[in-house]
Amino acid sequence: MVGGIVMALLAMRAGVEVRRARARGFGRISDLRRAHVRLAKFAVPVVVLGFVGGPVSMFFLRSREPFGTLHAVLGLTVATLFIATAVWGRQVEQGRLDAAALHGRLALAAVVGAGAAAITGMVLLP
Ligand code: HEM
Ligand code: HEM
Repeated sequence: MVGGIVMALLAMRAGVEVRRARARGFGRISDLRRAHVRLAKFAVPVVVLGFVGGPVSMFFLRSREPFGTLHAVLGLTVATLFIATAVWGRQVEQGRLDAAALHGRLALAAVVGAGAAAITGMVLLP
């Protein structure tokens, strides 16, 4: 999960670089875009896998009721936000540039939420 969050943060940074390049109106924007999309397409599945692993581990390894913690509520929200970010990201990738602003907002919410999930996840650590 830590790896997934780190990759998501790197994807966020790469996305912000694309945004800056676009605001300047020139430069290596297609390279930056490609780097961002490559990172993001790796990060999102890792986060989603980590999300699925949580309740599975709760049930099979700890014999506890899954989705019974604050961490689970936050985790579900964060996973949904990451998936929404990816859906809007795909739209941007396919040329609908008007989706970029919402994509960026969703991404920011996902990353902030992941931070909150990380904090609430600490107490669940063995
Ligand atoms: C560094 C950050 C995180 C830490 C340290 C952490 C830690 C944990 C731990 C220790 C568990 C208990 C499962 C077990 O190992 O037996 C757990 C469960 C879970 N985690 Fe995380 N987690 C983190 C981030 C996330 C994120 C970002 C998500 C969502 C994308 C997430 C979603 C879940 C879910 C849904 C569960 C199941 C909880 C339940 O069924 O009540 N976690 N997490
Ligand atoms: C499959 C997933 C994703 C795809 C296909 C994707 C695609 C894109 C593309 C093509 C752009 C460039 C927009 C432009 O040219 O102006 C962009 C921008 C951006 N992306 Fe992603 N992205 C994905 C996931 C993510 C994730 C996971 C994050 C952060 C955690 C993220 C954060 C950003 C940010 C902050 C921007 C700048 C948005 C703006 O201009 O306001 N993206 N994304």
